[in-house]
Amino acid sequence: MGRHSADILDRDAPPQHAVEATTVPAGTGAAGDAAISTVTDALVLRGLTKTFRSGPFGRGRTHTAVDRLDLSVPTGSIHAILGPNGAGKTTTVSMVATLLRPDAGEILIDGVDAVADPSAVRGLIGMSGQYAAVDGNLSGFENLRMVAQLYGLSRREASTRAQEMIDELSLTAAADRPMRTYSGGMRRRLDLAGAIINRPRLVILDEPTTGLDPRGRRQIWQAIKELTLAGTTILLTTQYLEEADELADDVTVVYDGAVHARGTPESLKRDFGDAALTVEVTRSAAVRHAPDVMTTLADIGTGHPEQLDDLRFRVRVGGGTRSVVSAVRSLREIDVDVVDASVTEPTLESVFLTLTEPVATGPDTEGTDDVR
Ligand SMILES: Nc1ncnc2c1ncn2[C@@H]1O[C@H](COP(=O)(O)OP(=O)(O)O)[C@@H](O)[C@H]1O
Ligand SMILES: [Mg+2]
Repeated sequence: MGRHSADILDRDAPPQHAVEATTVPAGTGAAGDAAISTVTDALVLRGLTKTFRSGPFGRGRTHTAVDRLDLSVPTGSIHAILGPNGAGKTTTVSMVATLLRPDAGEILIDGVDAVADPSAVRGLIGMSGQYAAVDGNLSGFENLRMVAQLYGLSRREASTRAQEMIDELSLTAAADRPMRTYSGGMRRRLDLAGAIINRPRLVILDEPTTGLDPRGRRQIWQAIKELTLAGTTILLTTQYLEEADELADDVTVVYDGAVHARGTPESLKRDFGDAALTVEVTRSAAVRHAPDVMTTLADIGTGHPEQLDDLRFRVRVGGGTRSVVSAVRSLREIDVDVVDASVTEPTLESVFLTLTEPVATGPDTEGTDDVR
């Protein structure tokens, strides 16, 4: 168990059960335990919970936006909270950023209790979306200088710091233009600059690239990677599997307030992703034996085979290259010659789809626990 293997969590059971095994049991809260598990963790969440009530006087329906979330982020690493819209990502990071008070649970930032002492941790964190878009008529440079002054730097110190940030995030050419003329990607970079201007220990980025074009996204990714080279710890949320794959050391997949899986991108792909086996057979075999090919692939694979065109067939598989060998062998036994066979790597996309399949929609979802 632990950070280097992916754990699927039984969605029918309370999320707590599976999570407990990797963390300090709920309710201990003793300083001794905390010290042991947080020495190298920039961020620890334990049992973090937030419920919203709708309607007048809070008498309406309640909705648990974050449900007993446990998380540890080692110093200097990037942790991605991956989930679709409404999963509870913003609610989670808002609590970490001390903008929202949890109903229950613990938040430790560099070992400091953020719920008990929010002002003590504010100097340790920076969050995107909070500062940079202060005034569209001010230039990028002026915006950043103002943010730095808000952090208590003198005007001269703030100017120096703002200029450093401008250069670091490749905004030098646009530094003196009014911010309202910036492209989406430039605004996000300015926003990132605002989040790190006080040199925080923990940077919180809530969907830093949502809505950006691929080029803008790449630029932000580059900037985020450079931040971790400098030893900064990053907690980011994303809806993009590609982003988690590209940036994160560890990923927590959340859906409807609960954790569905966690692990490195690699372990998640290995444990829950589906590789696809594609075989191409000879024309004569395809003409004579197509149904038999489908049956054989159904035996080898983990899903329903499909015929891609006259000669090619595809099926989802678990076994990687081993499945190529068994496919060729089994097809040979029924007199089908394989011209080409290959396995494509699983993507985080397939992991995500597996893990966020709607629950309780009938027989399709049964057996989720057997994925591995
Ligand atoms: N202030 C609020 N009042 C009521 N419900 C809220 C509030 N903020 C968020 N929610 C609800 O909590 C759930 C999680 O929202 P959010 O954390 O914004 O998700 P995400 O950022 O993953 O899209 C959603 O169902 C959302 O409607
Ligand atoms: Mg959000």
